[in-house]
Amino acid sequence: MTDILQNVKNLYEQQPYPLPPAHLNEFVEGKLFPAGSPTDYFHLYWPDQPYRENLDILLAGCGTTQPAEFAISNPNAKIVGIDLSQNSLDHAKRLLDQHGCTNVTLHCLPIEQLDQLDQTFDLIATSGVLHHMENPAAGLASLNNGLKPNGRLFCMVYATYGRLGVYMWQDYCKKLGIGLENQDFDDLRAVLNHCPIDHPFVPLAKRSTDLQSNSGIADLLLHPQDRSYTVPELFDWIEGAGMTFDRWFLQATYLPQCSILSQTPHADKLAALPLREQYEAVELFRGNLHKHTFIASPPGSAPGSAPGSTPGSTPGSTPGSTPGRSLENASSNLPPKTSRGQTTPRIHFRGENWKQYKPIRFRGIGANTDNLPAGKLVRLQQAAHEFPMLTPYLDDQTIGMYQAIDQNKTLGQIAKDHPQTKAFFKMLWDFDQVFFKVETTHAK
Ligand SMILES: C[S@@+](CC[C@H](N)C(=O)[O-])C[C@H]1O[C@@H](n2cnc3c(N)ncnc32)[C@H](O)[C@@H]1O
Repeated sequence: MTDILQNVKNLYEQQPYPLPPAHLNEFVEGKLFPAGSPTDYFHLYWPDQPYRENLDILLAGCGTTQPAEFAISNPNAKIVGIDLSQNSLDHAKRLLDQHGCTNVTLHCLPIEQLDQLDQTFDLIATSGVLHHMENPAAGLASLNNGLKPNGRLFCMVYATYGRLGVYMWQDYCKKLGIGLENQDFDDLRAVLNHCPIDHPFVPLAKRSTDLQSNSGIADLLLHPQDRSYTVPELFDWIEGAGMTFDRWFLQATYLPQCSILSQTPHADKLAALPLREQYEAVELFRGNLHKHTFIASPPGSAPGSAPGSTPGSTPGSTPGSTPGRSLENASSNLPPKTSRGQTTPRIHFRGENWKQYKPIRFRGIGANTDNLPAGKLVRLQQAAHEFPMLTPYLDDQTIGMYQAIDQNKTLGQIAKDHPQTKAFFKMLWDFDQVFFKVETTHAK
């Protein structure tokens, strides 16, 4: 074990993360579900595969709560959790036993040695882990090797710009040799109370619950190994492991047409950029992204993975309901411009494929009718969005299409009664309101 790995292990042995809760009853009651849970998002991962629940899932760097959260939410899956920290795994085991979960096996094993399991997985979920590895490229490669040929990776890693203030505090703590004793935490809390209100740390500190526990403070500010990614660095990292970026887990955050940018004089310039550069530009505009959550595939499982083929969805106009100015490329039937090694996305709105899509509503969306602008009937919300988005509305023109979502009708069927179907559902897709099951012969 290298010094760095040992230091990371020591941190989580002393301060298991997240702070283990007394119970996970809200997961049992269905009020909460874990990010990336395949029971809830199966067709986000596999749009053209028949739905199934008996998946092999690996939780890589599972920590204290993820195993029981996944086990409760995916009772028919076979789940393996690995982690460096035995203390974290002991908490995980306690929660599994408490909730009667029998579908999880836990191993104290570093990701670097995943091949020792001699097993491959349909889904590997790794959240808040790879950025703590000495060699995240080797970590990603190791997970890639652990995927079945049509497997998927759900991954969250830190984003650079929104964590600037965190890194300043980390450097401050390193300079003063702040450790993991109780007194260190008490003293640090006292100093944090005087953090200047315009310090770059403040926005993230307000959003995060980490400052409420020693475990959270250790993970956030006292970490011995912590790196982050800008959007271009993220893509280089994923492609360096030979993997394919499928999509952001929630994509609206990265799309100019979902932000106020679409109402600025730069709207057309942004729309003219290749999709990946749109993501980069929106990240720079926002300046506050502190994590990236995405889905990736192993080599060979993405459709059209030939270099130079086309990137993600084409921004579309949405008559009657588009918030902001349209950012549609010259023709939505032409492939959007590509950049670097982007691949054809599984879901796109070129050609006629969209007619085979069956829309499924995301969990966590809400309909609100308070203080609506004139002519609007409903405001659609996505509770999982961390930052403000433009608001998609339903009106007389669009509500019929929205009500037609029943998990059975294809967009082609809906379009028979509603000529604006393609543009409307493209907008709902951009805004993380729906994802799609693609109707194929083998999916029946
Ligand atoms: C921030 S916690 C995240 C826990 C969990 N994934 C979650 O989202 O709640 C990071 C976890 O990754 C584990 N970890 C860090 N580096 C690891 C490695 N190289 N191999 C296995 N586990 C690792 C730590 O022990 C810790 O439990």
